Amino acid sequence: MNGESDGGAIKLTAKADLVQVDKALESSRDSGYDLTAAVGEVVDNSVDWGKASAVRIETKWDRGRKRIEKMAFADDGVGIPDEILPHVLSLGFSSGYGSRNGLGRFGVGLTLGTLAIAQRVDVYTQRAAADTVLHTYLDLDEVKSGTQTSIETREASDFPEDFAHLMQTKEDETPFVSGTLVLWSKIDRLEEGGRYGQANRERMQELTRFLARAYRRFIDNGLKLELDGKNIALHDPLFLLPNPRVIDRFGAGVVASVVERGTIEIDGTDVEVTVTLLPKEFRQHRGRGGRADRAGEEFTDLYIPDHEGRISFLRQGREINYDLVAKMLPGGKNPVDRFIGIEVSFPAALDEYFQVRNVKRGVVPVSNLRDELRKFLEKPSRARKSAVTGTRRKQKKAPQARSTMLRKRRSAALSRPCHAGEPASASQRTRPNGSSSTS
Ligand SMILES: Nc1ncnc2c1ncn2[C@@H]1O[C@H](COP(=O)(O)OP(=O)(O)O)[C@@H](O)[C@H]1O
Ligand SMILES: [Mg+2]
Repeated sequence: MNGESDGGAIKLTAKADLVQVDKALESSRDSGYDLTAAVGEVVDNSVDWGKASAVRIETKWDRGRKRIEKMAFADDGVGIPDEILPHVLSLGFSSGYGSRNGLGRFGVGLTLGTLAIAQRVDVYTQRAAADTVLHTYLDLDEVKSGTQTSIETREASDFPEDFAHLMQTKEDETPFVSGTLVLWSKIDRLEEGGRYGQANRERMQELTRFLARAYRRFIDNGLKLELDGKNIALHDPLFLLPNPRVIDRFGAGVVASVVERGTIEIDGTDVEVTVTLLPKEFRQHRGRGGRADRAGEEFTDLYIPDHEGRISFLRQGREINYDLVAKMLPGGKNPVDRFIGIEVSFPAALDEYFQVRNVKRGVVPVSNLRDELRKFLEKPSRARKSAVTGTRRKQKKAPQARSTMLRKRRSAALSRPCHAGEPASASQRTRPNGSSSTS
């Protein structure tokens, strides 16, 4: 019935809230964010909305160093305006709802990312020239017990004592002119060997790799990203951006060669595809799978075996998926692929074509786009042959001659998919294997 009746007033018989807030928030805890995806939401906000040049993440562990109890995220960005602050934890609010210009657009990342890991989030913020720090919070316990029924903003005397040091310069402890501190507490989803049977130490290593890869372009452009006081150096699986660990070890001249670079045009918007062959210095020691140089010396921190068959998808310059994508590489995955770097970079305008969800984790190119990408990758995958570890063959097939960038344009006659949540065909529904955004 749509409210029309045959003349008489319609009698209201029952009424319900649009959302059962406590239950809905509890259920939202399983909406698909792992630690890396959840942290990514907070860091995205700092670089996107805050325009921060520094983001510091700090973890607080229990005495036995088993449990992570709190996680803080500090930025030196512009801060959050008073009128916006009470809304930031409200599900569905975004300063740029639906916009396709930045990293955010769904208005749920901060809240859902937090709740996937913790039961409480506090946000402290300071705007330039404001003399007070403002504070807001959401606490699932309080929501469940009925103590919290709305989100309020109040003045705080300062940033919380335990984390105030994150909001000032290291050199002379000058407080940041402006910035935001997000604090997760009541963390209950990072138990040692907990839900995913993973040790917290491993989780932190995975997080470090994720941050190094996902924000590589931002770090390359000057973003200072820190985890527990340590600077995160960028990691580019294509080995084109300057990686300090490579430079320390091999000098600045060791970079990958571009095997293929070009664009696929969709609806007048370009998807950039780059394929590289890793530097020969990484390919020389047989039997070590790219974990050691010719002399057998280890360089596990270059994560080369991780590359096998993976494609790095960047959305707005931020990696949202680094995984095997079903049916993308001609001939399936191949151990030699570890020496090949593949990056597919697209703007948020094309989210539907990559089936990007609000959980910015995982992409599934729609099937006709996947065909286009496959065609593109056919030729470079022949580079597998020249990537073999044997020096003789490698020298013969060294890619210098091919490193002139090929600009290849394919105008893909793709029809725009209806929307990201559209039921996909059986093949499209294939999720990428393993977990994404991780290595
Ligand atoms: N570190 C930050 N600096 C400035 N603004 C922020 C920050 N974090 C969150 N915000 C604000 O909170 C809003 C909600 O964030 P979020 O839930 O992640 O949604 P989205 O990023 O899609 O807008 C953002 O639109 C922005 O206004
Ligand atoms: Mg966001």
